[in-house]
Amino acid sequence: MTIPTITLNNGVAMPQLGLGTARVEDEEVRRIVGTALGLGYRLIDSAAKYENELGVGQGIVDAVVPREELFITSKLRGRDQGFASTKAALAQTLDQLGLDHVDLYLIHWPLPRVDNYVESWRAMQDLLAEGLTRAIGVSNFLPEHLDRLAAETTIVPAVNQIELHPQLPQREQIADNTRRGIVTESWSPLANAGALLKDPVLAEIGERHGRSPVQVVLAWHLRQGLVVIPKASQEERLRANLDVFDIELTAQDVAQIDALETGVRVGGQDPSTHEEF
Ligand SMILES: NC(=O)c1ccc[n+]([C@@H]2O[C@H](COP(=O)([O-])OP(=O)(O)OC[C@H]3O[C@@H](n4cnc5c(N)ncnc54)[C@H](OP(=O)(O)O)[C@@H]3O)[C@@H](O)[C@H]2O)c1
Repeated sequence: MTIPTITLNNGVAMPQLGLGTARVEDEEVRRIVGTALGLGYRLIDSAAKYENELGVGQGIVDAVVPREELFITSKLRGRDQGFASTKAALAQTLDQLGLDHVDLYLIHWPLPRVDNYVESWRAMQDLLAEGLTRAIGVSNFLPEHLDRLAAETTIVPAVNQIELHPQLPQREQIADNTRRGIVTESWSPLANAGALLKDPVLAEIGERHGRSPVQVVLAWHLRQGLVVIPKASQEERLRANLDVFDIELTAQDVAQIDALETGVRVGGQDPSTHEEF
């Protein structure tokens, strides 16, 4: 199984589909990561805030995949924002993961009230230069936050990881990211398996293609050139989520999926106000 890649603005190739690891404890995430890598996943989306990077690292060891084939993302949690603390945070994440570098390091949330993301970004630029990460990016950044990075720092983020699914298609943010040369990565791509997946429209489209609603939604992301990181805990689901690269949605399918937009954020987390540390 070969997963297509997307080339980031610094030339690094990133798999277009990977595994999410939020809200899973160490032992469980170890099993899931090991299983996923065995099935052919290479991108693992991790974060210090998930407090399970030890388990992610153990899953990586269990799978015995050559390091250069892996694409490991981690994120700077809110409480570690700041110049020196950003550097210390990545050192701790690498220690937990058992790695000497990650492939992508993201600022998890902008936390505009705290107003420390520009200083954190300066440290991220150093971490990139030091080879401790192969690419740097952001998560949940709005155009106004990207504007400040552009005005006050030198490196354009490679990725902006944002909540994105048919209910919240984020067309304007995608266009803004693209204009800046930033790849958009969809978090909660399945809207966290809520009401969206029960919508009869997805079942109907799925029937036409001989696929499930989940697979239809993943195909919708991929055809837009988005990077997607569904979280799944069972082998059968992990396998099904990889079996999506040959789905060719018609213009009519896409129009029907686009009509599912509600504008609602699954967890109600608005980046201009959401705070987590
Ligand atoms: N940057 C950020 O601020 C941020 C925020 C949230 C999430 N994330 C990242 O994005 C990742 C994905 O988001 P998410 O975990 O919130 O939600 P999600 O991937 O949209 O949905 C996960 C849910 O979908 C279910 N599922 C997956 N594949 C399925 C299948 N084939 N059939 C039926 N159900 C299926 C999973 O079930 P089971 O697990 O029970 O199998 C789980 O309940 C996270 O894990 C995390 O890495 C980032």
